[in-house]
Amino acid sequence: MNLIIVNRKVFLLGVMALLLLGSGIYVSPTSAEKGKSVFYKFDKSGNLLQPKGYREWVFVGSPLTPNDMNNGKAAFPEFHHVYIPHEQFKVYKNTGAFPDGTILVKELLSVGKKQAPSGKGYFNGDFIGLEATVKDTKRYKNEPGNWAYFSFTTPIGQPHNKTAKAMPKTKCNFCHQAFAKDDWVFTQYYPVLKDAKPGRK
Ligand code: HEC
Repeated sequence: MNLIIVNRKVFLLGVMALLLLGSGIYVSPTSAEKGKSVFYKFDKSGNLLQPKGYREWVFVGSPLTPNDMNNGKAAFPEFHHVYIPHEQFKVYKNTGAFPDGTILVKELLSVGKKQAPSGKGYFNGDFIGLEATVKDTKRYKNEPGNWAYFSFTTPIGQPHNKTAKAMPKTKCNFCHQAFAKDDWVFTQYYPVLKDAKPGRK
């Protein structure tokens, strides 16, 4: 008799769990929401490993600083393709904030052709550089905003570096802190993020 009651309880609990899962009420927090990033890794010396798979993330914008409008040598030549992992994009869309563990990758492309069947312009050329920024409250507790900046870029024609050291604040962070619209990120130039921010529509 007792055994039957216990079995019934277990059965009912199972049914409730299935209902909760099925109705979508229970959503397990992603690693990003828990503050642990699965999107970037470090080597033993604390250097960031070159991010992988980012071309399959959310593409948020493509600022362009062509060399020919910057005295022949833009600081970050030329197209800047910016990506964020899907999970972190969703957190931003839901909360309006970049979670601990966020990474944004900026891939640099040269201007290739300036004339296409569609007209005169600037057309994507080759991949020439790779930069990244990560927000990590533990590892970078002393960096302003907890953001650290990395460059994997090598001279044109050579493979990008496999690892990168966090850059000094005076090289990167200061400018993001001063001019970026939202939490050190230049969302003012990324329409996909600008539109996703809650409360905008
Ligand atoms: C003088 C200002 C300035 C400095 C210095 C600077 N950045 Fe930025 N950064 C920008 C601007 C403006 C954007 C957005 C527009 C663009 O890409 O041109 C940007 C965008 C980025 C992004 C895309 C994500 C984001 O935060 O918007 C990364 C990654 C990045 N920069 C990395 C770096 C690294 C690495 C350094 C140092 C080597 C650096 N930046 C130094 C102005 C700066």
